Amino acid sequence: MSKRIVIHQIGAAEVMKWESERLAKPQPHEIQLRHTAIGLNFIDVYFRSGVYAAPQLPFTPGLEAAGIVQQVGSEATDFRPGDRVAYASPPIGAYCAARNLPAARAIKIAAGIDQRTAAAIMLKGMTAHYLLRSAYRVQAGDFILFHAAAGGVGLIACQWAKHLGVQVIGTVGSDEKAELARANGCAHVINYNRENFVARVAEITDGKGLPVVYDSVGQATFSASLECLSARGTMVSFGQSSGKVAPLDIGLLSAKGALYLTRPTLFHYTAQRDELVYRAGEVFDAVLCGAIKISINQSYRLADAATAHQDLENRRTTGSSVLIP
Ligand SMILES: NC(=O)c1ccc[n+]([C@@H]2O[C@H](COP(=O)([O-])OP(=O)(O)OC[C@H]3O[C@@H](n4cnc5c(N)ncnc54)[C@H](OP(=O)(O)O)[C@@H]3O)[C@@H](O)[C@H]2O)c1
Repeated sequence: MSKRIVIHQIGAAEVMKWESERLAKPQPHEIQLRHTAIGLNFIDVYFRSGVYAAPQLPFTPGLEAAGIVQQVGSEATDFRPGDRVAYASPPIGAYCAARNLPAARAIKIAAGIDQRTAAAIMLKGMTAHYLLRSAYRVQAGDFILFHAAAGGVGLIACQWAKHLGVQVIGTVGSDEKAELARANGCAHVINYNRENFVARVAEITDGKGLPVVYDSVGQATFSASLECLSARGTMVSFGQSSGKVAPLDIGLLSAKGALYLTRPTLFHYTAQRDELVYRAGEVFDAVLCGAIKISINQSYRLADAATAHQDLENRRTTGSSVLIP
């Protein structure tokens, strides 16, 4: 028997139940993994609370983990029992001690990267990568605004952007988080609970505005974020930790200066195997060469996933968090 978190009904963190299951053998194209660490992500909260529709009920949440291959299906010939692998991908269901996964979604963990780190960087690291290299390709000398700079994606993205020669302006919700953001790549930090970030950005950029804003906070920041862009700037709206962004009149993009708006998701930037392998490789390299350091600031037992969700939703976490089966 194996153990997993199961959600029978959408709701608050307590809807996550710790249950036993009998795991089937892997299908021909699948591998069976014993998880060593599972990544905690805000998207898990969206699925649990109904912001995103769950594929079915009941379901097991989670989209990121690291583990050891136990068995391989007859067509999963690239893997062997004992391989160290990680993933950040549907099918949803990472909150478990063991599972079957399509082999095409698994990546072998580079030597020198431990299992917890792998579980902390697959989703958040590849997100930072596609945001900075593809959704909008930052250039050395750019000033950028990155909201929730002390969060899981934030701490990785801000270090990486600095490494690329970017002047990062990060927003945070507390003084402790401001310290952390400063130590992790932000040239300027704004506490958006206390300060008007539009005014601060104008001051920092001498009124020029920014070529790009990365906004994962959503409802609370979206409109003001548009005000921070220079003409033909790009708004990358990639999350909604404060609530969904209201429907938008596209005329606003013209009125604010021929702006670009994208609402990207990691899974559209890693759908093809080649692209997935490329991005995961870039993340491993960035860790191994020291361009980004991974702060796993919270670790929970998987059985205590409800506590982990409460901490994440209530803004009590910084950096990455892992769940240990
Ligand atoms: N589209 C994609 O491909 C993609 C991929 C990964 C993650 N994301 C998004 O990126 C964001 C960050 O994800 P993460 O897992 O790394 O989480 P996180 O940043 O560690 O946690 C969310 C942070 O958002 C800030 N926040 C602001 N208003 C909030 C509110 N009302 N409620 C809760 N938090 C609030 C908090 O930081 P402060 O206290 O400093 O404000 C909080 O710590 C999420 O929106 C997530 O959905 C998107």
